[in-house]
Parts: sequence; structure tokens; C-alpha cells
Amino acid sequence: MNDMKVRVKSLTKKFGDLLVLDDISFDVKKGQFLCVVGPTGCGKTTFLNCITRLYEPTSGEILVDGEPVDLRKHNVSYIFQEYSTMPWLTVEENVAFGLRIKKKPEAEIKESVDEVIEMVGLQKFRNYYPSQLSASMLQRVVIARAFATKPDILLMDEPYGQLDIELRFKLEDELIGLWKKLGTTIIFITHNIEEAVYISEDILILTNKPTTIKQMMANPLSRPRVVTEKRFIEVREQVTELIKWW
Ligand SMILES: Nc1ncnc2c1ncn2[C@@H]1O[C@H](COP(=O)(O)OP(=O)(O)O)[C@@H](O)[C@H]1O
Ligand SMILES: [Mg+2]
Repeated sequence: MNDMKVRVKSLTKKFGDLLVLDDISFDVKKGQFLCVVGPTGCGKTTFLNCITRLYEPTSGEILVDGEPVDLRKHNVSYIFQEYSTMPWLTVEENVAFGLRIKKKPEAEIKESVDEVIEMVGLQKFRNYYPSQLSASMLQRVVIARAFATKPDILLMDEPYGQLDIELRFKLEDELIGLWKKLGTTIIFITHNIEEAVYISEDILILTNKPTTIKQMMANPLSRPRVVTEKRFIEVREQVTELIKWW
């Protein structure tokens, strides 16, 4: 039980008469890399908004380390679907942003910022402004900012949806590297089945609205994974069969 990081218990969310999440229960183990896949509009973002308490569940609850989730207590970072950097801040100021909000001592901020900037390979660009950076570098700034606070849990909402495929693979590999190194519990939302099979340890497959769990599936593939390999394609097709929302 002690390695349970997030516990979702009978989570139900309605907007007026619209039933979005219908009695969802699942657990996320500490250090897990969970992908949540489901059709557009099934309530993936709503689920994350329930974790961050932007929305109150209609019923049910979300526990972190056995207690109702509380962002003042639990160290949760998130990268939204429409992620962005702050154009008036340099790379290092962007990365330090979350730590400044948390009013960490300057020495600690500097140490954490140096560490994550190095991890994502932006040392040479630390004094650049976002307008001077490419899409992939901007994504690294966002990732560095999310990891700078040493989150226990990282929530990512379709972060690579807008990127071209080559860049996506590269950033996915970098994310896997950071996850292996830091052991952060990651909940990664995507509607891209290939992406889910490529990066996840477990895949939570959701149905159409009203949304329930179709299946929680352990990803059987070892790493590194190759999207063109027979076994990869088999697993991808297996997940596709389970989803079939079209
Ligand atoms: N604040 C809100 N008020 C009313 N309806 C909402 C609100 N947020 C989301 N919804 C509805 O809930 C459903 C799920 O939305 P969302 O969580 O954004 O889906 P997903 O992220 O899976 O694409 C959609 O039908 C959406 O219109
Ligand atoms: Mg969404």
C-alpha cells in the first residue's frame, strides 16, 4: 500500500446534465509512468483539472499519499495542453518561475535551475528569450520548469500534440530519460495510441462519454522500443481494438 501514489476513488464529474466521468477508480503506483488514452471530449483534461482542484468532483475523491489531494501539501507539477513560456522572461527565469512562486531561497533556486537546465541541455541558452528559441527548445524550457520544483507527480496534458513526429520522438525519449533518472510519478494524457505505447509503463484506456474505464493495461514492451517492430505494432493494434471510438 505504501507505494501507492495516487488513488482515484469513484470519481464522477458532471457539468449540469452532462455526465463526463462516470464512477472512475484506479491507482497509480509511486514512480509509475501512466498514459491515459481516450477519445477527444471524453474528459481527460477534466480528470486532470480534478486532480489540480480546478474542478470539484461531483462525487468520489482523489487521494495522494492517502490524503485528499492538496497542492499546498503535495508536490504536483503540470504541463497544460496549451503550454507556454513567458516571453518577457529569459530561459533561466522561466525555469525558476515555479520555485520563486514557492518562495524558495535564492541559493536553492540557483542550484535547482542549474541542474535542470543542464538535464535538458539548455546551458548555452539560459539567457535567451523564448522568441529566440525553436519549438523543441521551448518544449525543453517547459519540461525544465516542470521538473525544477522536483515534483512528486507530473501531469502532462497532450504536451506533444502540436509537434511534428520527429521532434515528438526526440522529446519523448528525453522525457523517458528524465523519468528513469528521477523516478517521478507521471500521468501523461494523449489521444495518440502510438505515443502511449511508446512511452508508458501502463495504459489506462477510457471509453466515450459517459466515460468509464475500458481497461488498465500493463505495457508488455521492454525498452528501448521501436515503433516499426512487429511486437510494437501488435501492442498498438491491441490498444486500438480496445479503443475503437471511431
Ligand atoms: N467547464 C466546463 N463546463 C462545461 N462543460 C465542460 C467544462 N469542461 C469540460 N466540459 C465538457 O466535458 C467534456 C470533456 O471535456 P475535456 O475534459 O476537455 O475532454 P478531453 O480532454 O478528453 O478532450 C466535453 O464534452 C466538454 O465540453
Ligand atoms: Mg483535453
